Amino acid sequence: MTNAAAVVRTNDYREIVAGRRSVREYDPSVKISREEMTELLEEATLAPSSVNLQPWRFVVVESEEAKAALAEIAPRNRTQVITSAAVIAVFGDMQAFDYAGDIMASSVAKGYMTQEVMDQMLANYGALFGSVPKEAFRDMILLDTGLVSMQIMLAARARGYDTNPIGGYDKSRAAETFGLEADRYVPSMLISIGKAAKDARLTTRLPIDRVAEWK
Ligand SMILES: Cc1cc2nc3c(=O)[nH]c(=O)nc-3n(C[C@H](O)[C@H](O)[C@H](O)COP(=O)(O)O)c2cc1C
Repeated sequence: MTNAAAVVRTNDYREIVAGRRSVREYDPSVKISREEMTELLEEATLAPSSVNLQPWRFVVVESEEAKAALAEIAPRNRTQVITSAAVIAVFGDMQAFDYAGDIMASSVAKGYMTQEVMDQMLANYGALFGSVPKEAFRDMILLDTGLVSMQIMLAARARGYDTNPIGGYDKSRAAETFGLEADRYVPSMLISIGKAAKDARLTTRLPIDRVAEWK
């Protein structure tokens, strides 16, 4: 059952960004409809990505069975997996370039780009990505999945949901757990999402003069 009354939308940037904290225990009665999750992902995928390849792929884990399978490879983060409304497993697609033609064609259809520019770009990027070592491509798509993951957490917060990014799971088994090809889908992180049942532990940040320098 969706706890619709508890869904609050805010557009206050400061409230969204400062209100996000890693919540590790959720109200298990709160579910998120497919429609709302789709909207949230649509918002999150406005994130930038290298040459707009959008290499992120998501598995929304919400059924009892899928959660149980996920909990098995994330034993240290079991509470988030089991009590959340859903866990979004974020992967990067090593074959993301296969989508480049469709992505650019939609820009052409909208009049954002001419067919000539598209043909030129596809040829250039095709040559570039054809020669990029696998490791470098992997690094690139993992950067992009990090950006979309942050936006998922902020989009969730704007709707009054809480999240926890999770790296503590057996990544070597992540793709196979969801029936995905392991050499194609690179695990990035899990993001649990729901309504907090227990407050997050407060955390601090280093002062900016410890982490930034001006030249
Ligand atoms: C990539 C990544 C992986 C993380 N993995 C875990 C995890 O496995 N389990 C967990 O409880 N928290 C995990 N966290 C949450 C961090 O502990 C948390 O973000 C940090 O302590 C700051 O607290 P805050 O998110 O409440 O601001 C992870 C965070 C990130 C960004």
